[in-house]
Amino acid sequence: MPVRRSLRLAPSLLSADFADLAGAIRAAEAGGADAFHLDVMDGHFVPNLSFGPALVAAVRARTRRPLDLHLMIDEPLRYLEPFHRAGADTLVFHVEARSPPEEVVRQGHALGAAVGAAIKPGTPFSAVAPLADRLDQILVMSVEPGFSGQSFLPQVLPKVGEARARLESLGQETDVSIDGGITPETAGPAAAAGASFFVCGNSVFGHGPVPENLRRLRAAVEDGAHRAVR
Ligand code: DX5
Ligand code: ZN
Repeated sequence: MPVRRSLRLAPSLLSADFADLAGAIRAAEAGGADAFHLDVMDGHFVPNLSFGPALVAAVRARTRRPLDLHLMIDEPLRYLEPFHRAGADTLVFHVEARSPPEEVVRQGHALGAAVGAAIKPGTPFSAVAPLADRLDQILVMSVEPGFSGQSFLPQVLPKVGEARARLESLGQETDVSIDGGITPETAGPAAAAGASFFVCGNSVFGHGPVPENLRRLRAAVEDGAHRAVR
C-alpha cells in the first residue's frame, strides 16, 4: 500500500533575499508552503552566522504558518526560551551540540514547543534513536550544515528509512525531516525513503518563480511517496 502520511514543504529563508523577507514569505505562501524553516547559526557549531530571535519575531509577524527553527548552535539549551518567545513552533537542536539532549527535549516541551532532534550526515541514527519516543521531529541532514545551495548526499537516505521504521514500530506519526540539497530530483527518493517534511532553500528561492518552484517540489514528493513500499 502506498503511504498516506501528510507531506509538508518548508522553504528555508536562509536562501531568500534578507532585504525582502516579507516578499519571500508571500511568494512561498502563494506556492503552498506548509511551514517556514529558519536556520540559526552561531559561528561555532557551524562556520557561518545567520540570525537570532529578533529576525524570528519579524518573520512571525508576517505569517501564520508554523516556524521550524533549526538550531545549529553549540548551546541550544541557552536559547530555547528566547526563540520560543520570538514565535518558534518547533525547536530543532543537534544531538552533536554541547547541551544534554534529554534536557533540551524536556525544557523545550516544558515551554510548550514542539521539539526536534537533528543529525549531521556523518552521525548514525543510533545517536537520536533513544529520544525517538519523545520527539516531534527527527531531522536528517543531507548536506554538511552551514550553507544553503550544496549538493544532496544520497548516502543519508538509509537513515531516513531507519528513522521511519523506528517511528512506525513505536506507533508514532512523528515527522522525519530532510534538509539540504532538496530539489525536484532528490525530493522523490527522500519521500520514498520515508521523509515527511522537506526543507528546501535554493530550489525555492534560488531561481525562477517561487510558487512554480514549490509546485514542482510538491509533485516530486507526492510521486516519491506513492512509490514507497512500506
Ligand atoms: C544548511 C541548512 C539548510 C539550508 C538548505 O545548513 O540547514 O536548511 O538552508 O538549503 P538548500 O535547500 O539550498 O540546501
Ligand atoms: Zn536547516
